[in-house]
Amino acid sequence: MKNIVILISGSGSNMAAIVRAAEQGRWAERLNARVAAVLSNRADAQGLVFAQEHGIPTAVLDHKAFPSREAFDAALMAEIDQQAPDLVVLAGFMRILTPGFVAHYAGRLINIHPSLLPAFPGLNTHQRALDAGCRFAGATVHQVTAELDHGQILAQAVVPILPGDTAATLSARVLSQEHQIYPRAVAAWISDFSQSVA
Ligand code: GAR
Repeated sequence: MKNIVILISGSGSNMAAIVRAAEQGRWAERLNARVAAVLSNRADAQGLVFAQEHGIPTAVLDHKAFPSREAFDAALMAEIDQQAPDLVVLAGFMRILTPGFVAHYAGRLINIHPSLLPAFPGLNTHQRALDAGCRFAGATVHQVTAELDHGQILAQAVVPILPGDTAATLSARVLSQEHQIYPRAVAAWISDFSQSVA
């Protein structure tokens, strides 16, 4: 069984979309894959409740309890590695990862970012797209490398920017597309992986 570990910090709606896709698409039977655990750096991440209701083990590691970024990442790696992960999925995990963490999961670590990368890496992507006068915005699923919001692009969705859009309305339109592309990208990654080791 291939193990997917999902990391969240907040509402976890992308994680929920992946869990629902795994249930509805019968990933366990069709892809021999499962969401093995959902981990959060915040105890109040709402997504944890959803995961528990869907029978997925959860754990919380509070980054504020660690003396350094390296110490937190080392503890996080130990927690993730208990699941023998084939794929680690960042889904609104709002932490900058150390190079050691990224290297440890090289080739099995993916992220979703709410912009059409390479445009607007970092924070406040929707306001920045509006301020720049963009006509289109979107989201990108990409492999994680040591450089923030870089790495090979695996999937993208484009949405129009409409007159009167605010960061909130644009964010909602992009997020609903994230929920489409992220589960598909995870399933595609898992099936490619299955073929390459078959
Ligand atoms: C999503 O829009 C995701 O793209 C973004 O955080 C939101 C999390 O929502 N990620 C980043 O900004 C990463 N740099 P969710 O918790 O409901 O999935």
